Amino acid sequence: MNVLVLGSGGREHAFGWKIKQSPLAGQLFFAPGNAGTAELGTNLSVDPNDFETVKKTVLDHNIRLVVVGPEEPLVRGIIDSFAADETMKEVTIIGPSQKGAQLEGSKDFAKQFMQRHNIPTAGYLSVTASSVAHGKAFMKTLKAPYVLKADGLAAGKGVLIINDYNEACLELDNMLSGKFGAAGNTVVIEEFLSGIELSVFVLTDGKNYVVLPEAKDYKRIGEGDTGLNTGGMGAVSPVPFADAAFMQKIEDRIIRPTVNGLAKESIPYKGFIFLGLIKVNNEPYVIEYNVRMGDPETEVVMPRLSSDLLELLMAAGKGTLNQQKCDVDPRTAVTMVMVSGGYPGSYQKGIKVSGVNNVDKSIAFHAGTTLNNNEIVTSGGRVFAVTSFGSSIKEARQLSLNSIKKIIFDGKYFRKDIGFDLM
Ligand code: AMP
Ligand code: GLY
Repeated sequence: MNVLVLGSGGREHAFGWKIKQSPLAGQLFFAPGNAGTAELGTNLSVDPNDFETVKKTVLDHNIRLVVVGPEEPLVRGIIDSFAADETMKEVTIIGPSQKGAQLEGSKDFAKQFMQRHNIPTAGYLSVTASSVAHGKAFMKTLKAPYVLKADGLAAGKGVLIINDYNEACLELDNMLSGKFGAAGNTVVIEEFLSGIELSVFVLTDGKNYVVLPEAKDYKRIGEGDTGLNTGGMGAVSPVPFADAAFMQKIEDRIIRPTVNGLAKESIPYKGFIFLGLIKVNNEPYVIEYNVRMGDPETEVVMPRLSSDLLELLMAAGKGTLNQQKCDVDPRTAVTMVMVSGGYPGSYQKGIKVSGVNNVDKSIAFHAGTTLNNNEIVTSGGRVFAVTSFGSSIKEARQLSLNSIKKIIFDGKYFRKDIGFDLM
Protein backbone atom coordinates (compact mmCIF):
# COMPACT_ATOMS: atom_id res chain seq x y z
CA MET A 1 0.00 0.00 0.00
CA ASN A 2 1.36 3.40 -0.98
CA VAL A 3 1.28 6.01 1.77
CA LEU A 4 1.51 9.81 1.76
CA VAL A 5 2.58 11.73 4.86
CA LEU A 6 1.81 15.46 4.87
CA GLY A 7 4.29 17.70 6.65
CA SER A 8 8.03 18.25 6.91
CA GLY A 9 9.13 17.90 10.51
CA GLY A 10 10.57 15.36 12.91
CA ARG A 11 7.04 14.11 13.55
CA GLU A 12 6.58 13.26 9.88
CA HIS A 13 10.01 11.59 9.67
CA ALA A 14 9.05 9.48 12.71
CA PHE A 15 5.72 8.51 11.10
CA GLY A 16 7.55 7.47 7.93
CA TRP A 17 10.22 5.56 9.87
CA LYS A 18 7.53 3.57 11.68
CA ILE A 19 5.28 3.01 8.64
CA LYS A 20 8.25 1.75 6.63
CA GLN A 21 8.62 -1.13 9.13
CA SER A 22 5.17 -2.47 8.29
CA PRO A 23 4.93 -5.49 5.96
CA LEU A 24 1.88 -3.72 4.48
CA ALA A 25 3.90 -0.68 3.39
CA GLY A 26 4.45 0.00 -0.29
CA GLN A 27 6.04 3.19 -1.55
CA LEU A 28 6.22 6.13 0.83
CA PHE A 29 5.66 9.72 -0.23
CA PHE A 30 6.09 12.89 1.77
CA ALA A 31 4.77 16.36 1.02
CA PRO A 32 6.95 18.24 1.31
CA GLY A 33 9.17 16.10 3.61
CA ASN A 34 12.81 16.76 4.50
CA ALA A 35 16.27 15.30 3.91
CA GLY A 36 15.50 12.46 6.35
CA THR A 37 12.22 11.43 4.73
CA ALA A 38 13.98 11.44 1.35
CA GLU A 39 15.86 8.35 2.58
CA LEU A 40 12.58 6.52 3.26
CA GLY A 41 10.70 7.43 0.11
CA THR A 42 9.95 10.25 -2.29
CA ASN A 43 9.58 13.89 -1.31
CA LEU A 44 7.03 15.80 -3.38
CA SER A 45 6.96 19.52 -3.55
CA VAL A 46 3.29 19.86 -2.66
CA ASP A 47 1.78 22.25 -0.12
CA PRO A 48 -0.37 20.27 2.40
CA ASN A 49 -2.83 23.20 2.43
CA ASP A 50 -3.41 22.96 -1.32
CA PHE A 51 -6.05 20.21 -1.16
CA GLU A 52 -6.66 19.92 -4.90
CA THR A 53 -2.97 19.31 -5.58
CA VAL A 54 -2.78 16.84 -2.69
CA LYS A 55 -5.68 14.88 -4.22
CA LYS A 56 -4.09 14.90 -7.64
CA THR A 57 -0.88 13.57 -6.05
CA VAL A 58 -2.87 10.79 -4.37
CA LEU A 59 -4.31 9.69 -7.71
CA ASP A 60 -1.02 10.06 -9.61
CA HIS A 61 0.84 7.79 -7.18
CA ASN A 62 -1.92 5.33 -6.35
CA ILE A 63 -1.84 6.30 -2.68
CA ARG A 64 -4.28 4.49 -0.37
CA LEU A 65 -3.46 6.12 2.96
CA VAL A 66 -2.81 9.77 3.79
CA VAL A 67 -1.49 10.76 7.22
CA VAL A 68 -1.88 14.45 8.02
CA GLY A 69 0.96 15.61 10.32
CA PRO A 70 0.29 19.27 11.15
CA GLU A 71 -2.93 20.92 12.36
CA GLU A 72 -3.31 23.58 9.70
CA PRO A 73 -4.72 21.42 6.87
CA LEU A 74 -7.05 19.76 9.40
CA VAL A 75 -8.37 23.06 10.73
CA ARG A 76 -8.80 24.20 7.12
CA GLY A 77 -10.90 21.10 6.37
CA ILE A 78 -8.76 18.66 4.38
CA ILE A 79 -10.76 15.68 5.72
CA ASP A 80 -14.09 17.17 4.60
CA SER A 81 -12.59 18.01 1.22
CA PHE A 82 -11.55 14.36 0.74
CA ALA A 83 -14.91 13.07 2.03
CA ALA A 84 -16.80 15.20 -0.47
CA ASP A 85 -14.73 13.97 -3.41
CA GLU A 86 -15.90 10.83 -5.22
CA THR A 87 -12.39 10.19 -6.60
CA MET A 88 -11.04 9.84 -3.02
CA LYS A 89 -13.58 7.16 -2.07
CA GLU A 90 -10.98 4.38 -1.77
CA VAL A 91 -8.49 6.54 0.10
CA THR A 92 -8.13 6.46 3.88
CA ILE A 93 -7.13 9.81 5.33
CA ILE A 94 -6.24 10.13 9.00
CA GLY A 95 -7.46 13.17 10.89
CA PRO A 96 -10.58 14.79 12.30
CA SER A 97 -13.26 16.56 10.28
CA GLN A 98 -13.07 20.35 10.27
CA LYS A 99 -15.64 20.38 13.08
CA GLY A 100 -13.51 17.97 15.14
CA ALA A 101 -10.39 20.01 14.43
CA GLN A 102 -12.06 22.87 16.30
CA LEU A 103 -10.90 21.12 19.47
CA GLU A 104 -7.52 22.63 18.57
CA GLY A 105 -8.61 25.45 16.26
CA SER A 106 -10.86 27.15 18.82
CA LYS A 107 -10.06 27.14 22.53
CA ASP A 108 -13.58 28.38 23.23
CA PHE A 109 -15.04 25.41 21.32
CA ALA A 110 -12.77 23.05 23.27
CA LYS A 111 -13.81 24.53 26.63
CA GLN A 112 -17.51 24.30 25.76
CA PHE A 113 -17.03 20.71 24.60
CA MET A 114 -15.34 19.80 27.90
CA GLN A 115 -18.09 21.50 29.85
CA ARG A 116 -20.79 19.62 27.93
CA HIS A 117 -19.10 16.29 28.67
CA ASN A 118 -17.93 16.94 32.22
CA ILE A 119 -14.27 16.64 31.33
CA PRO A 120 -12.02 18.13 34.04
CA THR A 121 -10.37 21.40 32.98
CA ALA A 122 -9.64 24.84 34.44
CA GLY A 123 -12.58 27.18 35.12
CA TYR A 124 -12.96 29.81 32.41
CA LEU A 125 -14.87 32.62 30.77
CA SER A 126 -14.76 33.50 27.07
CA VAL A 127 -14.97 37.18 26.21
CA THR A 128 -15.12 39.38 23.12
CA ALA A 129 -14.69 43.15 22.75
CA SER A 130 -18.31 43.68 23.76
CA SER A 131 -17.98 41.67 27.00
CA VAL A 132 -14.55 42.82 28.13
CA ALA A 133 -15.96 44.29 31.36
CA HIS A 134 -17.28 40.86 32.32
CA GLY A 135 -13.85 39.46 31.63
CA LYS A 136 -12.16 41.91 33.97
CA ALA A 137 -14.76 41.23 36.66
CA PHE A 138 -14.20 37.47 36.21
CA MET A 139 -10.46 37.94 36.62
CA LYS A 140 -11.13 39.72 39.92
CA THR A 141 -12.67 36.48 41.18
CA LEU A 142 -9.51 34.50 40.26
CA LYS A 143 -6.17 34.31 42.04
CA ALA A 144 -3.05 35.43 40.15
CA PRO A 145 -1.50 34.49 37.81
CA TYR A 146 -4.07 35.13 35.08
CA VAL A 147 -4.19 32.91 32.00
CA LEU A 148 -5.31 34.58 28.74
CA LYS A 149 -5.68 32.50 25.59
CA ALA A 150 -6.42 33.70 22.08
CA ASP A 151 -9.27 31.53 20.84
CA GLY A 152 -7.81 30.75 17.40
CA LEU A 153 -4.53 29.31 16.13
CA ALA A 154 -1.69 31.70 16.96
CA ALA A 155 1.41 29.65 16.08
CA GLY A 156 1.81 28.53 19.69
CA LYS A 157 2.15 32.12 20.92
CA GLY A 158 -1.46 32.84 21.86
CA VAL A 159 -1.25 32.03 25.59
CA LEU A 160 -0.22 34.69 28.12
CA ILE A 161 0.29 34.02 31.82
CA ILE A 162 0.42 37.28 33.77
CA ASN A 163 0.98 37.90 37.49
CA ASP A 164 -0.40 41.41 37.85
CA TYR A 165 -4.14 42.12 37.57
CA ASN A 166 -3.77 45.52 35.92
CA GLU A 167 -1.28 44.20 33.40
CA ALA A 168 -3.61 41.28 32.64
CA CYS A 169 -6.45 43.77 31.97
CA LEU A 170 -4.18 45.72 29.61
CA GLU A 171 -3.17 42.54 27.75
CA LEU A 172 -6.80 41.47 27.52
CA ASP A 173 -7.55 44.81 25.81
CA ASN A 174 -4.55 44.33 23.51
CA MET A 175 -5.59 40.81 22.53
CA LEU A 176 -9.15 41.90 21.81
CA SER A 177 -7.87 44.75 19.66
CA GLY A 178 -5.80 42.55 17.38
CA LYS A 179 -2.50 41.64 19.09
CA PHE A 180 -2.89 38.11 17.65
CA GLY A 181 -5.04 39.14 14.71
CA ALA A 182 -8.44 37.53 14.31
CA ALA A 183 -7.30 34.61 16.52
CA GLY A 184 -7.81 36.96 19.48
CA ASN A 185 -11.31 38.20 18.62
CA THR A 186 -12.42 35.87 21.39
CA VAL A 187 -10.21 35.41 24.45
CA VAL A 188 -10.53 32.55 26.92
CA ILE A 189 -9.70 33.65 30.47
CA GLU A 190 -8.74 30.64 32.57
CA GLU A 191 -8.10 29.78 36.17
CA PHE A 192 -4.40 28.98 36.66
CA LEU A 193 -3.64 25.35 37.47
CA SER A 194 -0.43 24.52 39.27
CA GLY A 195 1.05 21.09 38.66
CA ILE A 196 3.18 18.96 36.39
CA GLU A 197 2.30 18.54 32.70
CA LEU A 198 2.27 15.49 30.47
CA SER A 199 0.88 14.58 27.06
CA VAL A 200 -1.27 11.57 26.32
CA PHE A 201 -1.98 10.40 22.77
CA VAL A 202 -4.98 8.53 21.50
CA LEU A 203 -5.83 7.13 18.09
CA THR A 204 -9.59 6.95 17.55
CA ASP A 205 -11.92 5.83 14.79
CA GLY A 206 -14.64 8.06 16.22
CA LYS A 207 -16.07 5.31 18.38
CA ASN A 208 -13.23 3.10 19.59
CA TYR A 209 -9.71 4.11 20.55
CA VAL A 210 -6.24 2.89 21.48
CA VAL A 211 -4.05 4.76 23.94
CA LEU A 212 -0.51 5.32 22.70
CA PRO A 213 2.52 5.82 24.98
CA GLU A 214 2.42 9.05 26.98
CA ALA A 215 5.24 11.61 26.93
CA LYS A 216 6.53 14.74 28.59
CA ASP A 217 7.95 17.52 26.49
CA TYR A 218 10.23 20.43 27.29
CA LYS A 219 8.96 23.64 25.75
CA ARG A 220 11.39 26.37 26.85
CA ILE A 221 14.62 27.12 25.02
CA GLY A 222 16.78 27.30 28.15
CA GLU A 223 17.93 24.70 30.65
CA GLY A 224 15.85 24.49 33.81
CA ASP A 225 12.79 25.46 31.72
CA THR A 226 13.81 29.08 31.26
CA GLY A 227 13.57 31.54 28.38
CA LEU A 228 11.26 31.67 25.40
CA ASN A 229 8.77 29.03 24.36
CA THR A 230 9.69 26.79 21.44
CA GLY A 231 7.95 24.05 19.49
CA GLY A 232 9.60 21.61 21.91
CA MET A 233 13.22 20.93 22.84
CA GLY A 234 12.96 17.30 23.85
CA ALA A 235 10.66 14.59 25.15
CA VAL A 236 10.66 11.57 27.40
CA SER A 237 8.43 8.47 27.37
CA PRO A 238 7.26 6.80 29.58
CA VAL A 239 6.52 9.48 32.16
CA PRO A 240 7.38 8.03 35.58
CA PHE A 241 4.72 9.97 37.49
CA ALA A 242 1.98 8.68 35.16
CA ASP A 243 1.53 5.32 36.91
CA ALA A 244 -1.18 2.82 35.99
CA ALA A 245 -3.70 4.26 38.47
CA PHE A 246 -3.21 7.79 37.12
CA MET A 247 -3.45 6.60 33.49
CA GLN A 248 -6.70 4.84 34.42
CA LYS A 249 -8.11 8.13 35.74
CA ILE A 250 -7.13 9.78 32.46
CA GLU A 251 -8.86 7.08 30.47
CA ASP A 252 -12.03 7.11 32.58
CA ARG A 253 -12.43 10.85 33.06
CA ILE A 254 -10.91 12.28 29.90
CA ILE A 255 -10.30 9.86 27.04
CA ARG A 256 -13.58 7.94 27.09
CA PRO A 257 -15.75 11.04 27.66
CA THR A 258 -13.90 12.80 24.81
CA VAL A 259 -14.41 9.99 22.29
CA ASN A 260 -17.99 9.39 23.43
CA GLY A 261 -18.64 13.14 23.27
CA LEU A 262 -17.44 13.29 19.67
CA ALA A 263 -19.64 10.33 18.76
CA LYS A 264 -22.65 11.73 20.58
CA GLU A 265 -22.31 15.04 18.77
CA SER A 266 -21.86 13.23 15.43
CA ILE A 267 -18.46 14.81 14.87
CA PRO A 268 -16.49 12.61 12.43
CA TYR A 269 -13.05 11.92 13.89
CA LYS A 270 -10.65 9.26 12.61
CA GLY A 271 -7.32 10.42 13.85
CA PHE A 272 -5.04 11.33 16.70
CA ILE A 273 -6.10 13.19 19.82
CA PHE A 274 -3.26 14.83 21.74
CA LEU A 275 -4.28 15.58 25.30
CA GLY A 276 -2.18 18.27 26.96
CA LEU A 277 -2.75 17.44 30.62
CA ILE A 278 -1.71 18.72 34.01
CA LYS A 279 -1.58 16.69 37.21
CA VAL A 280 -2.91 18.69 40.17
CA ASN A 281 -3.06 16.90 43.55
CA ASN A 282 -2.92 13.57 41.73
CA GLU A 283 -5.92 14.47 39.53
CA PRO A 284 -5.69 14.99 35.74
CA TYR A 285 -7.03 18.15 34.04
CA VAL A 286 -7.04 19.05 30.36
CA ILE A 287 -4.93 22.11 29.50
CA GLU A 288 -5.52 21.78 25.77
CA TYR A 289 -6.52 19.46 22.99
CA ASN A 290 -4.54 19.10 19.81
CA VAL A 291 -5.92 17.15 16.88
CA ARG A 292 -2.60 15.73 15.68
CA MET A 293 0.47 14.12 17.20
CA GLY A 294 2.99 16.25 19.08
CA ASP A 295 6.42 17.19 17.87
CA PRO A 296 8.88 16.12 19.35
CA GLU A 297 6.64 13.71 21.30
CA THR A 298 6.07 11.58 18.18
CA GLU A 299 9.83 10.98 18.09
CA VAL A 300 9.57 9.04 21.38
CA VAL A 301 6.05 7.66 20.93
CA MET A 302 6.65 5.98 17.54
CA PRO A 303 9.87 4.22 18.59
CA ARG A 304 8.07 2.84 21.68
CA LEU A 305 5.08 1.58 19.69
CA SER A 306 5.63 -2.12 18.98
CA SER A 307 2.35 -2.64 17.11
CA ASP A 308 2.15 -2.11 13.36
CA LEU A 309 1.26 1.57 12.85
CA LEU A 310 -0.08 0.98 9.36
CA GLU A 311 -2.49 -1.64 10.67
CA LEU A 312 -3.65 0.71 13.41
CA LEU A 313 -4.19 3.57 10.96
CA MET A 314 -6.14 1.42 8.52
CA ALA A 315 -8.28 0.15 11.41
CA ALA A 316 -8.92 3.76 12.45
CA GLY A 317 -10.05 4.45 8.89
CA LYS A 318 -12.34 1.39 8.81
CA GLY A 319 -13.80 1.91 12.27
CA THR A 320 -12.37 -1.35 13.63
CA LEU A 321 -9.98 -0.10 16.31
CA ASN A 322 -11.89 -2.25 18.82
CA GLN A 323 -10.13 -5.22 17.20
CA GLN A 324 -6.67 -3.69 17.71
CA LYS A 325 -4.42 -3.29 20.64
CA CYS A 326 -1.41 -1.18 21.17
CA ASP A 327 1.77 -3.00 22.25
CA VAL A 328 4.46 -0.85 23.76
CA ASP A 329 8.21 -1.29 24.23
CA PRO A 330 8.82 -1.03 27.99
CA ARG A 331 12.15 0.74 27.57
CA THR A 332 12.57 4.49 28.10
CA ALA A 333 12.95 6.70 25.05
CA VAL A 334 14.46 10.17 25.24
CA THR A 335 14.64 12.59 22.34
CA MET A 336 16.79 15.71 22.37
CA VAL A 337 16.20 18.42 19.80
CA MET A 338 19.13 20.15 18.09
CA VAL A 339 18.21 23.66 16.97
CA SER A 340 19.71 26.45 14.88
CA GLY A 341 21.56 29.20 16.73
CA GLY A 342 19.15 32.04 17.52
CA TYR A 343 16.02 29.87 17.57
CA PRO A 344 13.21 30.58 18.57
CA GLY A 345 14.21 34.08 17.44
CA SER A 346 15.70 34.64 14.00
CA TYR A 347 18.22 32.11 12.72
CA GLN A 348 20.08 31.26 9.55
CA LYS A 349 19.05 28.55 7.13
CA GLY A 350 21.07 26.65 4.57
CA ILE A 351 23.90 25.73 6.95
CA LYS A 352 25.77 22.59 5.98
CA VAL A 353 25.26 19.54 8.21
CA SER A 354 27.70 16.67 8.55
CA GLY A 355 28.08 13.49 10.58
CA VAL A 356 24.45 12.30 10.59
CA ASN A 357 25.50 8.97 9.09
CA ASN A 358 27.88 8.40 12.00
CA VAL A 359 24.95 8.14 14.41
CA ASP A 360 24.55 4.45 15.17
CA LYS A 361 23.15 4.07 18.70
CA SER A 362 20.31 6.57 18.29
CA ILE A 363 17.76 7.52 15.66
CA ALA A 364 18.41 10.94 14.16
CA PHE A 365 14.98 12.18 13.06
CA HIS A 366 15.30 15.13 10.70
CA ALA A 367 13.16 18.09 11.70
CA GLY A 368 14.40 21.03 9.66
CA THR A 369 16.70 19.84 6.90
CA THR A 370 16.67 19.80 3.14
CA LEU A 371 18.93 18.52 0.37
CA ASN A 372 20.98 20.98 -1.58
CA ASN A 373 22.98 19.28 -4.37
CA ASN A 374 22.80 16.05 -2.38
CA GLU A 375 24.16 17.74 0.72
CA ILE A 376 22.12 18.05 3.90
CA VAL A 377 21.58 21.68 4.94
CA THR A 378 19.45 23.21 7.69
CA SER A 379 16.05 24.60 6.73
CA GLY A 380 14.37 25.31 10.06
CA GLY A 381 14.75 26.22 13.70
CA ARG A 382 14.49 22.69 14.96
CA VAL A 383 16.95 20.68 12.88
CA PHE A 384 17.11 17.15 14.40
CA ALA A 385 15.41 15.19 17.14
CA VAL A 386 17.85 12.54 18.34
CA THR A 387 16.08 9.62 20.03
CA SER A 388 17.64 6.84 22.10
CA PHE A 389 16.40 3.95 24.16
CA GLY A 390 17.67 3.04 27.60
CA SER A 391 16.75 1.12 30.70
CA SER A 392 16.47 4.54 32.38
CA ILE A 393 16.12 8.18 31.41
CA LYS A 394 19.74 8.66 32.39
CA GLU A 395 20.98 5.93 30.06
CA ALA A 396 18.82 6.99 27.10
CA ARG A 397 19.79 10.63 27.57
CA GLN A 398 23.50 9.78 27.61
CA LEU A 399 23.20 7.90 24.32
CA SER A 400 21.43 10.88 22.71
CA LEU A 401 24.14 13.21 24.03
CA ASN A 402 26.84 11.00 22.48
CA SER A 403 25.00 10.99 19.15
CA ILE A 404 24.43 14.74 19.19
CA LYS A 405 28.21 15.21 19.41
CA LYS A 406 28.53 13.44 16.06
CA ILE A 407 26.12 15.74 14.21
CA ILE A 408 27.85 18.94 13.27
CA PHE A 409 26.52 22.26 12.00
CA ASP A 410 27.45 25.85 12.79
CA GLY A 411 25.48 27.36 15.65
CA LYS A 412 23.95 24.11 16.88
CA TYR A 413 22.27 24.30 20.28
CA PHE A 414 20.41 21.77 22.43
CA ARG A 415 19.19 21.42 25.99
CA LYS A 416 21.25 18.97 28.03
CA ASP A 417 18.67 18.70 30.83
CA ILE A 418 15.90 16.79 29.06
CA GLY A 419 14.36 14.42 31.63
CA PHE A 420 16.34 15.86 34.59
CA ASP A 421 13.16 16.67 36.50
CA LEU A 422 11.99 13.06 36.18
CA MET A 423 15.20 11.29 37.28
P1 AMP B 1 -1.74 25.86 25.59
O1 AMP B 1 -1.37 26.50 24.29
O2 AMP B 1 -3.18 25.96 25.94
O3 AMP B 1 -1.16 24.49 25.75
O4 AMP B 1 -0.93 26.68 26.70
C1 AMP B 1 0.47 26.77 26.65
C2 AMP B 1 1.05 26.50 28.01
O5 AMP B 1 0.54 27.44 28.97
C3 AMP B 1 0.69 25.13 28.58
O6 AMP B 1 1.53 24.14 28.13
C4 AMP B 1 0.83 25.38 30.06
O7 AMP B 1 2.18 25.29 30.45
C5 AMP B 1 0.38 26.80 30.21
N1 AMP B 1 -1.03 26.86 30.59
C6 AMP B 1 -2.09 26.92 29.76
N2 AMP B 1 -3.24 26.95 30.45
C7 AMP B 1 -2.92 26.92 31.75
C8 AMP B 1 -3.67 26.94 32.97
N3 AMP B 1 -5.01 27.03 32.99
N4 AMP B 1 -2.99 26.87 34.12
C9 AMP B 1 -1.64 26.80 34.13
N5 AMP B 1 -0.87 26.79 33.02
C10 AMP B 1 -1.50 26.86 31.85
N1 GLY C 1 5.35 19.65 21.43
C1 GLY C 1 4.09 20.28 21.51
C2 GLY C 1 3.29 20.25 20.29
O1 GLY C 1 3.52 19.51 19.36
O2 GLY C 1 2.32 21.01 20.24
